[in-house]
Amino acid sequence: MTQPDIVPTALMPPDTSLGEGLRIGLFDSGLGGLSVLKDLRQHMPFAQLLYIADSGNAPYGERDDAFIAGRALAISAFLLSQGAQVIVVACNTATAMAVHTLRQRWPQVPIVGVEPGVKPAVALSTNKRIGVLATPGTLASDKFKRLIEVHGQAALIVPQPCPGLAKEIEAGQLDSPALRALVEAFSQPLREADVDTVVLGCTHYPFVAPLFQRALGPHVRIIDTARAVSRQTQRVSAELPRHVDPNAQPTTQLWTSGSAPHLAQVAARWLHLHTPVSVFP
Ligand code: DGL
Repeated sequence: MTQPDIVPTALMPPDTSLGEGLRIGLFDSGLGGLSVLKDLRQHMPFAQLLYIADSGNAPYGERDDAFIAGRALAISAFLLSQGAQVIVVACNTATAMAVHTLRQRWPQVPIVGVEPGVKPAVALSTNKRIGVLATPGTLASDKFKRLIEVHGQAALIVPQPCPGLAKEIEAGQLDSPALRALVEAFSQPLREADVDTVVLGCTHYPFVAPLFQRALGPHVRIIDTARAVSRQTQRVSAELPRHVDPNAQPTTQLWTSGSAPHLAQVAARWLHLHTPVSVFP
C-alpha cells in the first residue's frame, strides 16, 4: 500500500505569507496603526510584530513635514535596531510626509506605506461621487494630489479634512459625545455631496467606522485600507530571509511615547491583546 505523501512539519519550508520567521516593525502617530496591527495579527499570525505608538506627539495631522520626518527616522531606526526586516508606516499622514525620506535613508529595507483607498473607491462607486476623510496634512500633501491625478479622474472626489478627530480617538472612548459630534460634523458635507462611497484616509478612523456608517447612512460604502496594507506586507516579505526558531512563540511587542498604561488598556479592549507596554522616548 502506498503511503500518503506527508512531509514532517520540521522539514517544510516556513510560510512567509503567514509571517513565519519574520520580524515586522510598524508605527503610527498613536493608536491608529492598531487597525493595521490587528489585520497583520490575523493574517500573519506567526510573525514577530513590533509596534510603536508615537502618542506623545500625536496628532501628526496638524504638524509640519520636517517634524514628522524626524520622528519617522528615529522610530524606524529603533525598529531596525530591534531586528525589524520590514517597516510598515501605519499612518497616512506619515506616509505622505516621510515615506520618501525613509526609503532614501534605507534603500535596502522594504518600507510599506498607507494611502487613502481612492483607487478601490472609484472602482466600487456606482454614482462616482466619493468622499475622502483624512487629516488636514494628508489632504494638503503632494502625494494626495498625485493620487487624485492618477486614480481619481473618473469620479468626483470630495476631500473632507477631519481636524481633531484623531486626537479624540486617542482618548480611547469610541462612543463619547465629543466623538459623535465630530463624526456628525464631518459627515454632513459628504451627505450633502451625495457620495455613495467614503474612504477612511487615516488609520485611526476604522475604530469609529460604525459611527460614520450611522451618520452617512446604510447605503454608503466605507473603504478601509488595513487589509490592502497587510497584503502588501505579505508580498514584500516573500523574498526576505527568515530566521525560524522552532521554539519561538509569535509575539507582539508594544512601545509608546505617551502613556504605557493607556496603550495597554486600549490594546486589550480593541485588539484583545494583553501584553506589557514599554516607553519609547
Ligand atoms: N493615523 C494617522 C493617519 O493615518 C494620523 C492621525 C494623526 O496623528 O493626525 O493619518
